[in-house]
Amino acid sequence: MASIITLLYMGVCVYAWRITTADDNPIPKAENVHWTSLDFTTILTWTGKPFDHTYTVLYAMDDGNWIESPDCSQISESVCDLTDHLKPLDRIYQADIKTEPVVVASDYDMEEFPHTYSLEFNPYRESNISAVLFTLEDVDENTVIVNITDPVTSIHEHGKQLSIRDILKNDLKYKISYYKSGSTGKRDIVSDSSRAKIVGLDAGQSYCIMVAAFIPSRPKATQQGAWSTQLCTKGHWNILQDLSLGAWIGAVFILLIVLIILITVTVICCRCQRNKRLQKSQSSAPV
Ligand SMILES: *[C@@H]1O[C@H](CO)[C@@H](O)[C@H](O)[C@H]1NC(C)=O
Ligand SMILES: *[C@@H]1O[C@H](CO)[C@@H](O)[C@H](O)[C@H]1NC(C)=O
Repeated sequence: MASIITLLYMGVCVYAWRITTADDNPIPKAENVHWTSLDFTTILTWTGKPFDHTYTVLYAMDDGNWIESPDCSQISESVCDLTDHLKPLDRIYQADIKTEPVVVASDYDMEEFPHTYSLEFNPYRESNISAVLFTLEDVDENTVIVNITDPVTSIHEHGKQLSIRDILKNDLKYKISYYKSGSTGKRDIVSDSSRAKIVGLDAGQSYCIMVAAFIPSRPKATQQGAWSTQLCTKGHWNILQDLSLGAWIGAVFILLIVLIILITVTVICCRCQRNKRLQKSQSSAPV
């Protein structure tokens, strides 16, 4: 009898424990779901590090069927690279992140696991574009050519790594911003191609130039890529005009030091010579 009571008592305890733990540890949902996309490499991130749970990422195109991402099935990380699955690029995608226990009890209903939807994302219109590299070629004293290298993406097609030009084609323009060295007035031009000519520059002047990808067909917020670092043309070497006050002071200072060293060396040498002559005349003198 006593053992039956004990057993009942234990049963109640275990039941109570299950209820309290279930309440304390609800299956954690993925939170702060966020798309990050640079040069068409698109990654989904979220927060939450559930102990003994995994995540599975599903995605859908244009409100179509949910497809499970093969690379992000029952993962414990909270990041999923969907670049290879979001094709074609110019479509609206949504992701859904499911949380599942590592060990699935047979009486669990899979539909009951919590899940979190992402916002909708269109890689073609919303992927950020990185800063570009470019070179300058002087044509004549009024003209310079800006030669821009289109950033490459991580997308491959027929064994070829695509550049952003391969993807955006004629939608890709470049914004070129330039100003005369030492002045504040900036001028912008937009170029359709990756090689642009800047004309009408003042002869002999140095100009500084920056470039950014520009996609006018996109919504305002995502039209412009990151600005490049700036490059400057040399202009003509005009010492009087181009040297700053600091450079002048520096030059005078260096000249002064050289002069002081010269004088010191000359003085020391003369003394040496005189001493030697003195010693010679003393030693040759009759005792
Ligand atoms: C694009 O860059 C901006 C500014 O750095 C950032 O706020 C935004 O989240 C980025 N968008 C994507 C899709 O990566
Ligand atoms: C433009 O620059 C790229 C390297 O960035 C170079 O391969 C290409 O030859 C240049 N184009 C011309 C016409 O010089």
